[in-house]
Amino acid sequence: MRKHIKGNVSWIGYLDWDLQKFHGDDFTIHNGSSQNAYLIEEEKTILMDTVWAPHQFEYIENLKRETDITKIDAIVVQHGECDHSGTLPALMKERPDLPIYCSANAVKSLEGQWGKHGWDFHVVKTGDSLDIGNGKKLIFVEMPFLHWPDSIATFMTGDNILFSMDAFGQHYAVGEMYADLADQDTLWHEALRYYANIVSPFAPMVTKKVKELKAMDLPVEMIAPSHGAIWRKDPMQIVDAYERWASQPEENRITVVYGTMWHGTEKLAHAIADQISLKSPDTIVKVYNVDHTPKDDIASEVFRSKAVAIGSPTILNGVLDGVAAFTYYLKSLKLKKGRKAAVFGCYGWSGEGNRVLREMMTEAGFDVVDTEIKCSWNPCDDDIDKAEEIAEALISDKAPAAKEKEASSSSGEKWRCPCGYIYDPAKGDPEHGVPAGTPWEKVPDDWSCPVCHLPKSAFKKVEE
Ligand code: FEO
Repeated sequence: MRKHIKGNVSWIGYLDWDLQKFHGDDFTIHNGSSQNAYLIEEEKTILMDTVWAPHQFEYIENLKRETDITKIDAIVVQHGECDHSGTLPALMKERPDLPIYCSANAVKSLEGQWGKHGWDFHVVKTGDSLDIGNGKKLIFVEMPFLHWPDSIATFMTGDNILFSMDAFGQHYAVGEMYADLADQDTLWHEALRYYANIVSPFAPMVTKKVKELKAMDLPVEMIAPSHGAIWRKDPMQIVDAYERWASQPEENRITVVYGTMWHGTEKLAHAIADQISLKSPDTIVKVYNVDHTPKDDIASEVFRSKAVAIGSPTILNGVLDGVAAFTYYLKSLKLKKGRKAAVFGCYGWSGEGNRVLREMMTEAGFDVVDTEIKCSWNPCDDDIDKAEEIAEALISDKAPAAKEKEASSSSGEKWRCPCGYIYDPAKGDPEHGVPAGTPWEKVPDDWSCPVCHLPKSAFKKVEE
């Protein structure tokens, strides 16, 4: 079955109502998903991507029903991840001569996953185009780190469709196909959840790419991502949302996250949430037990929050593994630095949990306030009173003292790119608009390595 979307373009993907997990078991799916692939039938017949290997037979059979597979002129592989390239080996068995248009990095990711078969790769860069007849062209745009180094987007002239690959998608099965017909709460919830968990680590690249896309001034009439709904009404609204999300504006929200053994730390979590609500009724407060709510749901809330309170009882001189895993995950998301965090937890006899948690949250980029609740055995009135202090510290606009200290002491730090280039503040990068003397924290977020173009977020501090 095909679904006509515009002109001579049809959707021929897989609507996965049943999907519950993604990236193995790592990412939780609540509302199904789709692997969107498209068939373009102009004077040339072009395939845009395939679907995940478990659905390869449906995809190939469907394709054979809808078109003469021997007449397909080329396939564009916009990204090598299995959910979009998983059917490529089966398709290439049917059509070993089929030209594949993709980025140079996709040749590596495709051959790395599916082996070297001598496929007919045509490497494309930003601005390259493919004439597909009827006066229309496919214009390619490299989208490195949105969200793999191999990702590209493709703009089809004439119908003015931007095939955007993972960018602007959602894990959401939308039978109605289009964003304007989908349930709006679910659509935006899933679009944000997708951004926060999958795209946000590459926020500097998003800012740069959105700026570049807008500067290209393409007359985009439709954005067709590789997951979820197609944007046809005011399609640039999702691009604007990405631009906004990339700057990670904090909402008036505070998220309380905890793990608990015998409910003491849980009582503290709720006491903190109650105090925040009492002191600042306009602040949205949500409370999550890390063992009961998937990490991606909690991370979406943290992404929107101006502050976090996080707690664990002390166990074996550290914290509960669920809490440790969650802070590790937060660190990997590379959220904008400088959000406030507070730590809390119960202990019986040694009480190292708060210190460990403080270190972990600092490493994850949060400014941890001094106020904490370190509660011996079960919470008593004094501990509950401390919840009020934590609430005040998180609500307040005042930055923790440590942040100012760190900012003033970090000005001479050097930072190393994975390619080996070292950013030295004494030299800056004047060729790319960063004057000598610019400390690392003042280097713009959309600056990238002058040697290999990896984003600023990929750099690591050079330890003396
Ligand atoms: Fe939907 Fe990066 O794959």
